Amino acid sequence: MIHLQCIACGKKYNENKIIYYCKQCGDLLEVKYNYETLKEKLKKSNWRSLPLSVWRYTPLMPIHDPSKTITLNEGGTGLHQCKRLGKLLKIKHLYVKNEGENPTGSFKDRGMTVGVTKAIELNMKIVICASTGNTAASLAAYAAKAALQCIVLIPSGKIAYGKLAQAMIYGAKVVQVKGNFDQALKIVLELSEKHKKIYLLNSINPFRIEGQKSLAYEICDQLKGKAPDKVIVPVGNAGNISAIWKGLSDFHQLNLTSNLPQMIGIQAEGAAPIAQAVKEGSNSVIPIGQPETVATAIRIGAPLSWKKAMRAIKESKGTAETVTDQEILEAQRILARHEGLFVEPASASSIAGLKKLAELGRVDADDTTVCVVTGHGLKDPDIIMQTCEKPVEIEAEIEPILEYLGLSKPLAPIAAQ
Ligand code: F0G
Repeated sequence: MIHLQCIACGKKYNENKIIYYCKQCGDLLEVKYNYETLKEKLKKSNWRSLPLSVWRYTPLMPIHDPSKTITLNEGGTGLHQCKRLGKLLKIKHLYVKNEGENPTGSFKDRGMTVGVTKAIELNMKIVICASTGNTAASLAAYAAKAALQCIVLIPSGKIAYGKLAQAMIYGAKVVQVKGNFDQALKIVLELSEKHKKIYLLNSINPFRIEGQKSLAYEICDQLKGKAPDKVIVPVGNAGNISAIWKGLSDFHQLNLTSNLPQMIGIQAEGAAPIAQAVKEGSNSVIPIGQPETVATAIRIGAPLSWKKAMRAIKESKGTAETVTDQEILEAQRILARHEGLFVEPASASSIAGLKKLAELGRVDADDTTVCVVTGHGLKDPDIIMQTCEKPVEIEAEIEPILEYLGLSKPLAPIAAQ
């Protein structure tokens, strides 16, 4: 009842065939289900009584033996109602889905729990990915848990230190490629094509997208069975926006929600081929040779899943927008200072995008708006050292500290109640 299908020519493949793109036309694949069967499976399941997590939605996942899942307790992340930030941006019902609360600190864990479980089902021994950092950290962790060998290719000098440290401590074989993410991705695609024992777990792998769609299921459940009006997502290689749209569409088709949100993709100005195409009303994406942005996680010029992302934006009557590095860093700061949420720069692009769209009057104040923030701020502390004022250094004595704090004069007596 599950199969893989090409999104362009419709050719079907057995779900157990190790294949990453259509052999007939070269396009992307997706996992297809029979919705009537899914409805029956849901009816028989106790999913509603389970805690929020990726595996609450086991009946909607392409896994056959749930007892064999490779899990680190992913998903179940907070949907934070952001009243202070909402007031600042003039959005009455603003929520932030904080994916930094996942086990390795990013949304990638949702995809990897399913992708690595599938690798085990398929009896693979080595897993590989190219990454701007988070995919590498996540794959390395799940591979460790599953006792699989892990290889990650990263663009040399262009990933945040926290992510590199994660990949290293989990025991992955880390290769720094003298090139950018797009070049590294080309190499892993070729490697996994040539060596059938190496399983590719970039988001071109349709099973990863299945795990990531749980993000949308959770948002609908957290909003008590109602989908939001707008979902704003940072876009890099374009897997996540596609996955979230798939999840929203699933819930709608399964009659678990009655509305469908608009999908809004945000890209950094120096790495924005999809936003560019959407703005120009073009149906195809022209890759950018030298992508550049402070948000290294989305420093991608040739997004592999662009077609799925464009489909999500088009079907949902959504849009895409660009934000500058300065807008990203400002959004990172205002989110932290108004809501206590510390996210990495790429994640803050969804907030920066909302701010820009709200100022342009393209988001209604009454819309229930969800910004997805994709990764934890501690992954990239270097950027904070560059953007925030450094703390002062003072002798270990009370007087100079009080003076610095402006508390050396006696405080005015507190007025009687
Ligand atoms: N936000 C963060 C924090 C990311 O790490 C990524 C992608 C994205 C957003 C964009 O998601 O690629 O699905 O559109 N990071 C990948 C990586 C490319 O290798 O970690 P996307």
